[in-house]
Amino acid sequence: MIPNLKQMTIQEAMDKGNGDVTLHGWVYRERGSSKFRFIVLRDSSNTIQCVVKRDVVGDEVFEQASTVQLEMSLRIKGTIKPDERAPTGYEVAVQEFEIVGPSENFPINKGDETQEVLFDNRHLSLRTQRTTAIMKIRSTVFGAIHEYFRKEGFYEHQSPIFQSSQAEGGSTLFSVDYFGEPLYLAQTWQLHAEAMIFALEKIYCVAPSFRAERSKTSRHLTEYWHAEMEVAWSNFDLIQDHGEKLIKHVVATVLDTNDRELSILERDTQQLKPVLEKPFVRMTYDDALKILKEQCNFEMEWGKDLRTIEEEKLTKLYDVPIICTDYPKAVKAFYMKEVKGNPDVVQGCDFLAPEGYGEIIGGSQREEDLEKIKERLRAQGEDLSDYEFYLDTRRYGSVPHGGFGLGVERLIAWICGLETIKEAIAFPRTMTRYSP
Ligand code: 4AD
Ligand code: MG
Repeated sequence: MIPNLKQMTIQEAMDKGNGDVTLHGWVYRERGSSKFRFIVLRDSSNTIQCVVKRDVVGDEVFEQASTVQLEMSLRIKGTIKPDERAPTGYEVAVQEFEIVGPSENFPINKGDETQEVLFDNRHLSLRTQRTTAIMKIRSTVFGAIHEYFRKEGFYEHQSPIFQSSQAEGGSTLFSVDYFGEPLYLAQTWQLHAEAMIFALEKIYCVAPSFRAERSKTSRHLTEYWHAEMEVAWSNFDLIQDHGEKLIKHVVATVLDTNDRELSILERDTQQLKPVLEKPFVRMTYDDALKILKEQCNFEMEWGKDLRTIEEEKLTKLYDVPIICTDYPKAVKAFYMKEVKGNPDVVQGCDFLAPEGYGEIIGGSQREEDLEKIKERLRAQGEDLSDYEFYLDTRRYGSVPHGGFGLGVERLIAWICGLETIKEAIAFPRTMTRYSP
């Protein structure tokens, strides 16, 4: 009998390189003849070629090996040695093997499935090398975000997901029936975070946010993971500096940790290196319009928000993210602070990722003036009584403060060079996709 417990990963066996090994995994490929059976075994760490020879294992075991199908789970005992002809450089000569879980015909194996078929079967297609690689990078990204904020002295704080008001505009709210009361799923942690900085001063979170986005684009999910931070006693520059340092830290950590995964994805990592080496490009919204006109021959009316198409044109001009600031007040959220002496413009910043990926961070310095906030909420048709708790933050010892939100899947999509954000999360939720 082969031990029930997994003692060693495929990667550890290859690191050992020689001698007896016991492996647990799934059949990734199989082929053979009447004398040999090649089984490529897969686990979370890597794949390895295993060979079953009739004259070594005997007829009975060999016949059993001939029934092996894709994605069966197996335990294998054998001897490993380097072999240049094997796909990952090593081969295991099988002495014993055991089928742990048989498999029906696996619906994904030809490699010619369309992306829609892969997403329809996401619970199975996540076993592919590509998705495994992306999910490993995703895990690194989450770890690096926590690491950054904790290293910088932030406390982790959680805001509620059920909320009684909007923060990012009413048109993208998901309503829920909360015992007969209409409530919404959180678009952001921000309003409650602004209350919490009075206790903890520097806080962050990584949590799901929900947007009823009616856009079927490559960068919108209805449920996405949102890394947000809020700092008391801050200024606008400090918020931008944190965003820049956070992104540099995450990209550096992925480059250090996930070399193999990035190469599975065929990601050109040279494109990511400038992000570590150079400062990000900082420009105002006015500068952006000028650059679009002069360098892209693209005219845009002042006062409109930058759309995907404008962001794409701008970001293709640089090899590092752009921090675009000082947007028209009318296109940004009610809580952003007015620029001194220019009340049509606010201290909001969007971080635009290179290669056309566009906005990955949205942040701002927050308006401290109670009357200005009330005025902006009224102008948006909001009922001030829904915001009493928020307005209290400006009534009792208000301080200059600000923060940002980073769309984690957008960051992952850019780092991995993905065509769609749906690949950056295990079970994507979009306007048309909510299963599996
Ligand atoms: O720019 P947004 O709407 O800003 C806020 O929610 C602020 N309250 C954040 C803050 O200051 N605490 O969203 C922040 C980021 C965007 O830059 C984008 O990366 C991501 O969240 N995001 C989405 N990601 C995927 N799918 C969507 N539908 C997204 N909407 C926003
Ligand atoms: Mg935004």
